[in-house]
Amino acid sequence: MHAVVLVGGFGTRLRPLTNTIPKPMLPVGHEPMIARLIGRLARGGVTDVVLALGFKPEPFMEAFPDGRCGDVVLHYAVEPEPLDTGGAIRFAALHAGIDDTFVVANGDVMTDLDVAGLVAAHRRHGAEATLHLIGVDDPSAFGVVDLADDGSVRQFVEKPARGTEPSNLINAGTYVFEASVLDRIPAEQRVSIERDVFPLVADAGRLFGYSTDDYWIDAGVPDFYRAANLDLLSGKRAHESAEAFAPGAIVDPQATVSNTLVGAGARIAAGTTVVDSVILPGAVIEERAQVESSLVMGRVGADATVIESIIGADGVVAADDHLAYSTLPDLD
Ligand code: GDD
Ligand code: MG
Repeated sequence: MHAVVLVGGFGTRLRPLTNTIPKPMLPVGHEPMIARLIGRLARGGVTDVVLALGFKPEPFMEAFPDGRCGDVVLHYAVEPEPLDTGGAIRFAALHAGIDDTFVVANGDVMTDLDVAGLVAAHRRHGAEATLHLIGVDDPSAFGVVDLADDGSVRQFVEKPARGTEPSNLINAGTYVFEASVLDRIPAEQRVSIERDVFPLVADAGRLFGYSTDDYWIDAGVPDFYRAANLDLLSGKRAHESAEAFAPGAIVDPQATVSNTLVGAGARIAAGTTVVDSVILPGAVIEERAQVESSLVMGRVGADATVIESIIGADGVVAADDHLAYSTLPDLD
């Protein structure tokens, strides 16, 4: 079975990390999140993945030089300009000649969903499109559904104003589509699958939901990107885990590092305290610095303090400085 994976967004909410690395290529548990996602699709029966690319396609091609990720064959569909989610799905599916039931996934979703279960539910309902659904406390930042008892979606609303959500069941970003969904997407223009297409399929009575309580995180925002990493240390994931220090991480024995992932080539000096953080490949934490609940790709100088901050590849915290609830370099 084919899957289209959406990986062409700008990753704005993860800047400045995404100034140098596209969001789906950022590591989760020392592997690009896209590799973990493709592994999960493969476990569910997907053999071919079409990467719907736009912004910065090269890093993806360089990461998988033989055109495979594990046993999965990769196809690259590079949009001439951003077509939004629906336009990108249509462009990628036509590029790969998809004409049968296929899977679609948002490139930033980390979940333990069994994709084969989603496909089986889709077939059971005779659906045109089936969405994976998850219950959350605050649904307003997501697509939200009103689900009927027979599993059909009565209403789909993308990012409703807080207080107006029809339920707490959200679109979890993994779908099964019949090829006929492609006919509902106008050619060569920006189309949102969530705003422009799902409501039409719902009105036709052919949109279904498959609700599970699997582990699920949209790693496209800083706190959840950090959580997606830390959750691999704490054994929260059904099929996946990670070591705290990647092979090639350089951690001084005199450093205190807890509940933190340290990537290959990152260096943590003596006397530092690093807690609840993700130290990405290439980062440097100098002597006696303290880092808490942060994402670091750049450099933290000696005796500096960093709390709940994001430091991009070009970010440097000067020695003795204090940085809290900020990003470096600044976002403009
Ligand atoms: N190729 C391509 N072209 N990909 C795109 C484009 C585009 O123009 N725009 C966005 N994408 C990709 C992003 O890279 C991401 O993988 C995916 O589409 C979804 O975009 P996000 O920007 O992450 O959307 P979101 O998180 O605000 O909302 C989406 O995900 C939620 C669940 O995590 C929606 O699908 C919501 O309905 C859903 O609840
Ligand atoms: Mg997202």
